[in-house]
This record gives sequence, structure tokens and C-alpha cells, in this order.
Amino acid sequence: MFRSLFVIFTLFFVLVNSHNESGEWSCESSNSGTQLAAEFRPGVITLDGHPDDWKDIDGFEFSLLPALDPHEDDAYKGGKMTVKALHDGKDVFFLLQVDGEYAYSQGEGNKCPSIALMFQIGENATYHNMGGCKESPDTCTNKTCRGHEVDIMHFTIGTAIPGRLYGGNLIDMGTGDDRFGHLVDVYSWNPHCRYLDGRGPKGHNNTAQNDWKGAWWHSSLNGHSGFVDEDSPYAKDGEKGAYYFEFSRPLRTMDRFQQDAEFKIGNVSNFSAAFWYPVDGKPWHGSGHYTVSCDWLKLDFISGASTLTDTGGIKVESSWNAAVAFSLLLSVVAFCLSVFVGYRVSMQKGVPFTPVDRL
Ligand SMILES: *[C@@H]1O[C@H](CO)[C@@H](O)[C@H](O)[C@H]1NC(C)=O
Ligand SMILES: *[C@@H]1O[C@H](CO)[C@@H](O)[C@H](O)[C@H]1NC(C)=O
Ligand SMILES: *[C@@H]1O[C@H](CO)[C@@H](O)[C@H](O)[C@H]1NC(C)=O
Ligand SMILES: *[C@@H]1O[C@H](CO)[C@@H](O)[C@H](O)[C@H]1NC(C)=O
Ligand SMILES: *[C@@H]1O[C@H](CO)[C@@H](O)[C@H](O)[C@H]1NC(C)=O
Ligand SMILES: *[C@@H]1O[C@H](CO)[C@@H](O)[C@H](O)[C@H]1NC(C)=O
Repeated sequence: MFRSLFVIFTLFFVLVNSHNESGEWSCESSNSGTQLAAEFRPGVITLDGHPDDWKDIDGFEFSLLPALDPHEDDAYKGGKMTVKALHDGKDVFFLLQVDGEYAYSQGEGNKCPSIALMFQIGENATYHNMGGCKESPDTCTNKTCRGHEVDIMHFTIGTAIPGRLYGGNLIDMGTGDDRFGHLVDVYSWNPHCRYLDGRGPKGHNNTAQNDWKGAWWHSSLNGHSGFVDEDSPYAKDGEKGAYYFEFSRPLRTMDRFQQDAEFKIGNVSNFSAAFWYPVDGKPWHGSGHYTVSCDWLKLDFISGASTLTDTGGIKVESSWNAAVAFSLLLSVVAFCLSVFVGYRVSMQKGVPFTPVDRL
């Protein structure tokens, strides 16, 4: 009975939603509630856009639905997004893998794929409307929108060479900008009140920095000795394969203005991921992105101590067991030897005792 009521209710929601785009926002994603784990795995990831070093890390696969109007029918047709995360005690690392035919147009960001991560900062920041502050661009300030801060990393690859590192650099110090690869560190209170770190409605405050670093790659590329600008577009358009985006950031930053999410080992953070793609070669626009869920997903920063007792511990234990077995074997051998020597000595009854001083 309750179950059928629930089904009817869900159906009702879906119908209402599909026939009234401007109705109340509703989130019925099967993905909400998903919890990703960022395990402690030091020293396995090289930030180069290549996914091979992630092969032993478990990830989650998501359908990509339009962010503003999440319907299964309008899902990104190219495939799914896989998200993986880990930390090394100091930095957090992400791999986002999205199936998609190769599309690249040098210098034209919205004719290339683009990717973003979003994290909750303020306790009242919602996934919907990127923080959900009700103020307009004229009235949003760090006071009127207090509690609605979200942290965003956005990578638009139009000027980024595959396999090269972008993000925080020495020339853009003081802001979250990245003039080279457009891998920027942004915060927002809602989609219309969105700023580079260190900037805001009241001008600049050059005390911030871009804490992110990252690289991209596509499986159809084969540049063994490193690409340069002139190699663009680096591979053939329309080539089947997958895009890889790899990112890292320190768990804690030096932010003092609620412009960065701060991560804590042992805690869970709310996050989401978004993807833009030039479908059929048509340039995308800012709000035409796909996301992995219509609400926050959870990211669990697993402590190294618990990893050691779970999996690493077994390894330690088994090597200890081997040592014990080996010493046991040694002692058995030694015991047998002493028995043998004793036996040989006792068999030599006929040999007379020769005092040493007589020799
Ligand atoms: C959608 O529903 C709201 C009420 O929830 C109504 O005010 C609005 O006119 C509807 N819009 C359309 C396009 O039907
Ligand atoms: C979040 O919202 C609650 C309830 O409206 C309020 O009491 C609290 O102060 C808000 N938090 C911040 C940081 O503004
Ligand atoms: C920048 O931040 C400092 C505090 O660190 C503050 O005193 C100053 O007013 C801020 N300036 C602007 C333009 O926001
Ligand atoms: C709010 O912004 C003003 C001006 O940019 C700055 O001086 C102040 O320190 C900020 N307050 C907080 C809590 O970030
Ligand atoms: C973070 O973990 C601490 C305990 O280590 C806990 O008290 C706190 O509620 C957690 N915070 C969140 C946001 O999960
Ligand atoms: C994460 O988001 C959910 C809503 O989606 C909220 O209930 C929860 O409190 C958030 N977690 C934290 C740590 O704020």
C-alpha cells in the first residue's frame, strides 16, 4: 500500500516536473545520497591527465543530466561520468572521466568540453542555485549572503594543452584566476553572484590564490614527448574515446573570507561535478551544463589510520606471519641439528677422552 502510494507520488512528481519547467524545483535523482570515498593513498597519483595510475581506485559512475532541468530523456548522450577521489594526507586528488568524441577548438572555450567541481562552504549553501542566496547581483554581499557560500573549480580547456599543468600560477597571485589554462578558483552565493577568489561585489581583495591544479587528456591522443600549442587540435575531431580531467588541491587553504571549502580528514564534504560539451559541434552556454546529481553528493575523507587497519593491516600482518614462520623453521632446523650432533657424540663411545693439556 505504502509502496504503491510512493510510486504514484513519484509519478506525479515526474509528470508535474516534465510539464511545467518553471514549477517548484524538485530533486528525484537516484544519485542523491551517494557517498564517495577519498581514501588515504599517498604517492600513487601523478597529475598529468593520464588515468592509468587510478586503475586500482574505486569510483562511481553517473549519468549526466541537464543541471537546470534534470530529465533522463535529455541526458548527455556521449556516455557517463566516472568520479574518483583520494587524498595523501595533504592534498586531495580527483579524476573525472567522461566518455565523449574528441572535440577541440583552440581558443574557443565553449567549443571544447569543460568541467567543474562545486563544494559546499556555508552551512546553508544549497546545491540548487549554487549556494541559493536569494539576493540579486546588486544586493549580494558577504553579509547578505552569509552562509550560502559555495566553492567552485572550473576548467575550460580551450587554451590548455593536453597533459600540461594549469591552475594556480605565480602571475595570477592574489586572485583565483588562471590566464594560461583557465582552470580557475571561484566562489558563489548564487549563479548571478559568482566571483573569482579574491574578488567580490565590492572590488578586489588581492589576498587570495588559486589553490587548484589540474590537467586534461583524451584517450585518442598520443603525444609521448609532450604537446605544444602548435600541435593543436592534438587529435582528429570526432574520434571516439574518453576525456580525463585530473585535479588536486590542498585539503586546507589560507582563505580567510569563506571563499574556499576546507576539508578535514575523517569528515564528509558536500560536493557535485558538472560537465559542458559542444553537442553536435554547437557551442555550449553557461547554464547548459550536465551534472551528476540534482543535490549534493557526499565525499568522505577517510583517515589513514582506518585504511591501515582495513587493508594495509592485513599486509603488515601477513609479512609478520612470514617472519614468524621463518624463525620457527630456523629453530626447528637448529633443534634437529642439535639432536643429530648429540646422537653422533653419544654413538662415539669408543673414543677415549683426551685432555687438552696433553696435546
Ligand atoms: C507552472 O506551475 C506554476 C505553479 O506551480 C504556475 O504558476 C505556472 O504558471 C506554471 N507554468 C507553466 C508554463 O505551466
Ligand atoms: C543558516 O540558517 C539558519 C536558519 O535560517 C540560521 O539560524 C543560521 O544562522 C544560518 N547560518 C549562517 C551561517 O548564516
Ligand atoms: C581586504 O581584506 C582586508 C582584511 O584582510 C580588509 O581590511 C580590506 O578592507 C579588504 N579590502 C577590500 C577592498 O575588500
Ligand atoms: C566582506 O567583504 C569586505 C569587503 O570586501 C571585507 O572587508 C570583509 O572582510 C569581508 N568579510 C568577511 C567576513 O569575509
Ligand atoms: C567532522 O568530524 C567531527 C569529528 O571529527 C564531527 O564532530 C563533526 O560534526 C564533523 N563535521 C561534519 C560537517 O561532518
Ligand atoms: C549536505 O547537504 C545536505 C542536503 O543535501 C544537508 O542536509 C547536509 O547537512 C549537508 N552536509 C553538511 C556537512 O552541511
